[in-house]
Amino acid sequence: MYQPREHFQSGHRFGIEFGGAVLSFERVADVLRRQWPIIAVCTGASLALVIVYLAMAQPMYTANARIMMDTRQTQVLDKDSNASSALIDTGYVDSQVEIINSDDLILSVVRRLKLTEDPEFNGSKPGLLSIIIGKLTSLFGSGEPASQERIEHAVVQQVQKNLRTERVLTTYVLSLSYKARSPDKAAKIANAIANAYLVGALEAKYQSTKRATEWLQQRSLELSEQASASDRAVQTFKAENNIVGTSRGLMSEQQLSDLNTQLVQARAATAEAKARLDRIDTISDQDVAQSTVTDALNNSVITRLRAQYLDLQAQYSDWSRRYGKTHLAAVNLANKMDELRKNIADEVRRIADAYRSDYEIAKSREASLEKNVKELVAQAGNKGQAEVKLRDLESAADTYRNLYNNFLEKLQSATQNQSFPLSEARLISTATKPDRKSSPRTVLALVGGMVGGLCLGFGVAFARELLSDVLRTPGEVEDELGVKCLGVLPDIRPPAKAGASDLSRYVVDHPFSRFAETLRNIKVSIDVARLTREIKVIGIVSSLPKEGKTTVAANFAQLVALTGHRTVLIDGDLHTRSLTRELAPNAKSGLVEALNDPASLGYHVQRSKETGLDFLPSVVASRMVNSADVIGSKAMAELLKVLREHYEYIVIDLAPVMPVADSKAVSFLIDAMVYVIEWGQTTRSALQESVSGSEVLQKKLLGAVLNRANPKMLKRIEAYKGKHHNSYYVEHA
Ligand SMILES: Nc1ncnc2c1ncn2[C@@H]1O[C@H](COP(=O)(O)OP(=O)(O)O)[C@@H](O)[C@H]1O
Ligand SMILES: [Mg+2]
Repeated sequence: MYQPREHFQSGHRFGIEFGGAVLSFERVADVLRRQWPIIAVCTGASLALVIVYLAMAQPMYTANARIMMDTRQTQVLDKDSNASSALIDTGYVDSQVEIINSDDLILSVVRRLKLTEDPEFNGSKPGLLSIIIGKLTSLFGSGEPASQERIEHAVVQQVQKNLRTERVLTTYVLSLSYKARSPDKAAKIANAIANAYLVGALEAKYQSTKRATEWLQQRSLELSEQASASDRAVQTFKAENNIVGTSRGLMSEQQLSDLNTQLVQARAATAEAKARLDRIDTISDQDVAQSTVTDALNNSVITRLRAQYLDLQAQYSDWSRRYGKTHLAAVNLANKMDELRKNIADEVRRIADAYRSDYEIAKSREASLEKNVKELVAQAGNKGQAEVKLRDLESAADTYRNLYNNFLEKLQSATQNQSFPLSEARLISTATKPDRKSSPRTVLALVGGMVGGLCLGFGVAFARELLSDVLRTPGEVEDELGVKCLGVLPDIRPPAKAGASDLSRYVVDHPFSRFAETLRNIKVSIDVARLTREIKVIGIVSSLPKEGKTTVAANFAQLVALTGHRTVLIDGDLHTRSLTRELAPNAKSGLVEALNDPASLGYHVQRSKETGLDFLPSVVASRMVNSADVIGSKAMAELLKVLREHYEYIVIDLAPVMPVADSKAVSFLIDAMVYVIEWGQTTRSALQESVSGSEVLQKKLLGAVLNRANPKMLKRIEAYKGKHHNSYYVEHA
């Protein structure tokens, strides 16, 4: 019937699984029912702590101011700024946070507001903790009074601790929160810090523009001197080199080109004159009357003379042919012709003279022009070098002038900036007096305390459940042993003042109690099992002593006897014999004697008049070493055989399994075992060890019963059964 459940076991050992099942809703509810006082205590304690804290903590107030970083304002003046400078990078905003937190800025605020005289800062009204710390540090300190500087430094640090500056998300807004003991002071200090920052920013800007202006001024002065000096140098050089600027370049160049044209013309004229002269020179030697000559000369005088000559020649040839050459008329004519020829020659000579003089003039003019050109070219060479120098000078002068103009412009805007400084930062919201304290936050603390307490409670509750190795519910028992749990017997120890009542006859005195009803349930289970096989000998056993075997056995036997069945109860625990001491303290003989002589059984059995229960006690002179052998002997089998004939129910109170071997030894003689487990006491490990130790016992195991359950806890565990569940157990109805 019993199967060891290894996986359940490991689950319990390591707390991975809970009661053999995953953490289901029922399990959680189960745990809550059992452990709610722990949870309540934890929550209550945590809430109490929170309330104590709230009562003790110094209320703090937080005031908040906001500063906006704005670049667009400055762009109005700064024309050069390009688009990229309009964006403030995150590094810039973050460094503003550092500036606000800086020692110098805070120190200026501390001095202005005279915070060193404030009791909140100078420690004249210190809290308990700071008094202790102060005492401790004075033990190690130099002991001399702190200097003003030290005090200021300490106050600055405290202000920095209460100040929280941060960028608001990804905006250019800085949020500046200050925490103080009074709302007024919080607002005052927050505003003072914001103002100090703004003024500081302006001052820094003013200083930087001032420095820039000074530098610009000095530099532009230098530049203006340099510019005018270079201008002057250009003018002097021009004057020295005789350079006059014209629209078509410089003077000498123009002259040269003019001269060149003239020279070319002069050369042409000379060549023409020479040609004419040469022509005339050749003519003079030839016959002047030749037509070619005169044609070439194209002279009116010569042409006329020649015409006369040609007439005379024609007349002469006529006359000399008619009258002969010697004729006077012919001679006269010849003379006239000679004269004419002489005249023409004279004329030609005269023209040649004129041509010669023309040629001479042209030649001399050409020479003079050539000379001029040569002179000019020489001059131009000198002038070219001067020009290069001049260009140098001029460009230097230009550069200086431009630079100077630029600087002047910058200087102007700088001076304007200086006279009207604009900073990137401006205050967009002033800190106002907070109307509610910022810390401690009552609601938050209470909710936090409650949630924390609940969490802690749950943790402790589940830890207790998971770590506990004991059994409390039928479910756990069934999981552990693999047999039915026949019932949970409550603790029946009566209240102290009610007087000692006999627990071994509880069912007789309280027939309607839950205890009795649970035992009846055991009987029913046995009776049901009896339908399939013979069950007469019933052993009551447990892992360890004092779990309640004796109590259960006695009450069970009495209950069965009361129903009218022939029942015998045997005290099978030869070690303690507690049953005998309870029911028949005066017995002189019992089980051991009956084993020796089964026929004499009747002498040893005692019958109770009240219940009709037969009891076979155990009487031994001294503790037996071989009790297991005795109880597991053949004689015992014989005895039980006899008993089976006479009785319907034979209940044996056995010894515990773990300490002694008796129960294992006798188990083969027993029809059914009922295992008593002490509620909330017997560990799973003990149970496992004792049950897995004997296979026969496992086979005979009919069921288990949880004994001595705490009635209060039982109520909680069984709350799911409804509030009327226990109404049947009312005894004094
Ligand atoms: N259900 C119970 N309620 C109150 N006390 C009990 C209960 N069962 C046993 N006891 C007490 O526990 C002690 C040990 O019980 P006992 O029956 O002698 O255990 P065992 O026989 O297993 O050693 C006794 O004092 C007994 O009165
Ligand atoms: Mg006992």
